[in-house]
Amino acid sequence: MTFTIDGKEAEARPGTTVLQIAREMDIDIPTLCHHEALQPYGACRLCVVEVQRGNRTRIVTSCNYPADSGMVVQTTSDRVRAVRKLVLELLLARCPNVKIVKELAQEYDIHEPRFKTGNNFCILCGQCVRACREVVGVEAIGFASRGVSREVAPPFFDPAKQCIGCGSCVYICPTGIITMEDVQNAQYHSPGGGYAMGSQRIMHNWKQTFRMAECKTCGKPFMPQVQIDYIAEKFNIPRAELEVCKTCKP
Ligand code: SF4
Ligand code: FES
Repeated sequence: MTFTIDGKEAEARPGTTVLQIAREMDIDIPTLCHHEALQPYGACRLCVVEVQRGNRTRIVTSCNYPADSGMVVQTTSDRVRAVRKLVLELLLARCPNVKIVKELAQEYDIHEPRFKTGNNFCILCGQCVRACREVVGVEAIGFASRGVSREVAPPFFDPAKQCIGCGSCVYICPTGIITMEDVQNAQYHSPGGGYAMGSQRIMHNWKQTFRMAECKTCGKPFMPQVQIDYIAEKFNIPRAELEVCKTCKP
């Protein structure tokens, strides 16, 4: 089971993608929606390569294209570069101030997009949506609207009811448009009624605020209480094991 990629012989192990093999061989293929921890998505189309089988040549997205014996892959052909350039030009028009887009566009010699520019900071890579669903097991956010108005939002643009404030979306977002803030000594609605003082985590984009649990050993706020409850229930872990912060864990 071998194939060639940029003239080099590669092994097509079952279940591997062209992108995976290329990365193992230190062949650079740009990606914007791919993340090792998530299922391949095939949305940004930046990872395109040219695949030849017999007399037939196709442009495919390498992040979800299975590596297969006998094929000939080119990662930097003229056709490949032309597709990537168009993808980047469209992205640069949508998100002219996103660092990663600007850097990639420069690499591909695109400075002024021919299309109408906006000032969006979401590249629609879907990593936040997928991390929430695939890794955390929650579906707090999803894609809403269509075309140029497409955006990530909680259902019906309401405060995200299912969000547990874990911050996975913040960590994974390649543009930094998702933000959260931990606030000390905030006033919050006490579960027993009335108000109490404590620390809070605010998920700005998803319009949610969470009470932070304090570490049972050092007393520092470290994780939203809702997240502790969620993990305890989902993985059947005794709460006592979760109520201690990383630093104080034996
Ligand atoms: S908010 Fe960030 S992670 Fe989510 S789709 Fe937009 S760019 Fe990607
Ligand atoms: S990385 Fe393959 S389509 Fe986005």
